[in-house]
Amino acid sequence: MIGSLPKTEINLNSQLPSTTVASALRWAVEVLAEAGVETPRLDAECLLAHAVGLSRLGLYTSRAKALDPVWVEAFEELVGRRAGREPLAYILGEREFWSLSIKVGPSVLIPRPETEVLVETALERLRQLTVHSSQFTEKNKDHQPSAISHQPIVVEIGTGSGAISIALAQELPEVYFYATELSPEAIQVASENIERYSLSSRVLLLQGDLFSPLSLLGLEGNVDMVVSNPPYIPRGHLSLLPPEVLFEPVEALDGSVDGLYFHKRIIIESPRFLKPGGWLALEIGADQGRAVTCLLEDSKEYRGIEVVQDYAGKDRVVLAQKSH
Ligand SMILES: C[S@@+](CC[C@H](N)C(=O)[O-])C[C@H]1O[C@@H](n2cnc3c(N)ncnc32)[C@H](O)[C@@H]1O
Repeated sequence: MIGSLPKTEINLNSQLPSTTVASALRWAVEVLAEAGVETPRLDAECLLAHAVGLSRLGLYTSRAKALDPVWVEAFEELVGRRAGREPLAYILGEREFWSLSIKVGPSVLIPRPETEVLVETALERLRQLTVHSSQFTEKNKDHQPSAISHQPIVVEIGTGSGAISIALAQELPEVYFYATELSPEAIQVASENIERYSLSSRVLLLQGDLFSPLSLLGLEGNVDMVVSNPPYIPRGHLSLLPPEVLFEPVEALDGSVDGLYFHKRIIIESPRFLKPGGWLALEIGADQGRAVTCLLEDSKEYRGIEVVQDYAGKDRVVLAQKSH
């Protein structure tokens, strides 16, 4: 490992040969590139910054600095994990999403940049609603949402790390969120993220299957939006995914045979909870736009069906409004 590299650089403090920031990075980039990691330089810098408690910029200004052997050992361990194709976000314990730092671990899907398109689309529609409710909210800051409240209500299905509800809640202080999730371990991670952003009074986590944890809350017909990034990989494609994805929970990926098992259920179950005119916003796979549009049309419960593209021009979100 690093110890086997020629230690030709000089420790400026002790004048003894040692491993420097620059040589450690060179070694790690080589190891990661050989292991097939797509961005070896970036990953090496993130891992070294994490191991020594510096920012990446801090590394640039310390290139000739000698590394303490304890740091070298810690860095070697991290690089070994990444070379085994464990996702960088799991090793670092967090991922940036919507400019927020979201804690992640093996029990939750790592939030993807594409999902920011879902947040953006949902946000646009919810902003229209909150203009009308803001006066009410100012007078009723401490109220919990109820069936008679005017405060907008969003239900998120399959919250995982909580990233979507947290991003929306940060942007929309008048809105209340009910976020369901099947996995108790994921609920634990989401709960830490919600605490981290002091949102526990507005983002309620509920453990259970899709809408079932909502059944006794009197939300039927009172929800302004149902939002979800459900598992949508067709089962037969799972084994073809990059090695990193196989570290993520299969329950967060597997959309059954056609990838649409959860979309079908959410499309059928949402109308019971949505207000007339309430929104359904679903993330989809790039080739699922047509199929999900058909499911929405066939249900006869929705109007204004729209497919939204991501920044790569791929279908990424389907949006529809409950008709009556
Ligand atoms: C694709 S992940 C999305 C996670 C997160 N919302 C995000 O966008 O990063 C889907 C999530 O749905 C959860 N899930 C799977 N089946 C579920 C079910 N029957 N009811 C509720 N949640 C479920 C998974 O555990 C996973 O956290």
